[in-house]
Amino acid sequence: MTGTTMKVSSPAKVNLTFEILGTREDGYHEVRTLLCAISLFDELVFTITEAREPEIVISLSPDSHESFAKDFPLGTDNLIARAIRLYLSHNPHKKPLKIEVMVTKRIPMQAGLAGGSADGAAALRAMNDFATNSLDEDELLALAAKLGADMPFSLSGGLKIGSSRGDVLESLPLTTEAPRFPALIIAKPRHLAISTPWAFKAYDAAADKIGLSEKTRDKGLTDDATLYAADLLLEGRWEEAIKAFGNDFEQVIFPEYQELKDIRADFVALGARAVNMTGSGPTMYAIVDSLQAAHEMIEAYKEKQRIDCHACVNKFDPLDLFAVEIIESGAFVNAIKNELKQDDC
Ligand code: C5P
Repeated sequence: MTGTTMKVSSPAKVNLTFEILGTREDGYHEVRTLLCAISLFDELVFTITEAREPEIVISLSPDSHESFAKDFPLGTDNLIARAIRLYLSHNPHKKPLKIEVMVTKRIPMQAGLAGGSADGAAALRAMNDFATNSLDEDELLALAAKLGADMPFSLSGGLKIGSSRGDVLESLPLTTEAPRFPALIIAKPRHLAISTPWAFKAYDAAADKIGLSEKTRDKGLTDDATLYAADLLLEGRWEEAIKAFGNDFEQVIFPEYQELKDIRADFVALGARAVNMTGSGPTMYAIVDSLQAAHEMIEAYKEKQRIDCHACVNKFDPLDLFAVEIIESGAFVNAIKNELKQDDC
């Protein structure tokens, strides 16, 4: 019998802006955000074989990033398994399938980088490539939205405005022409994780406490930052757009975490053009002029930490740092192999 092996790459996302516009009846929040996919990928290898009983086996590759992969959930509630089950319930295969998934985890988790959604999106891509009657992209996006607010973006990537729960997407054409397209530094405090539901609750509590009226909340605290930035980007005016980047969550997260304020101050001092939090945090992104500048700034930051912190090694929470570029793709299949396998039916 034939087994299909597929390698899927799935990128992390960054919210260049994040506006919380109000609460919704379904328990979610109305948001508006400018999202970009970045060149930091999880790699997933799917091996799909017809079998007697359906089975999903997820494992973690030893090539995963050592500092956060140990917390990766391998059980049946994992977004990869949920995505596979949802896909097959919507577009069944004629026989039961054994699906083995080996994940090389490189995107930090609970970090505001949509690492879980990246893996779920990879699973939808793999299943759709394997299917004999594949779903079209709109059907696949609708399935993705059922699994989580970040899922449609993880599937499609690029540079987009997300509205509603963050899952209704509008593309902005990516122009890599002059003025030079910036690069990003991703900075994640290794021992800090923030859950998205907690962050939204904290935001609501703070909004109530500081007496924001419903009307003010509906307008958002950073009035129309996303649309303003998007208009500038469409004209290629990166340098001005960057000034509108920001994140409403920072108002409630920053008072709790001095280290995030320090990250901003450190990277601004090193010459970053803007430093903000992505999603519900705690990851920060810094905007710099090029990938080379990003690598150099990371080295300069590490050197500064070595000098400042050699006496406080035990207290110091190291940063996981990545130099990345904005990319056009979401989750994509980059290798497929069909091979004869021992019939275990
Ligand atoms: O959709 P996802 O599972 O990623 O969202 C996780 C949680 O974050 C939701 O259950 C909800 O509590 C909160 N959320 C929200 N508004 C959004 C997105 C997420 O309140 N737009």
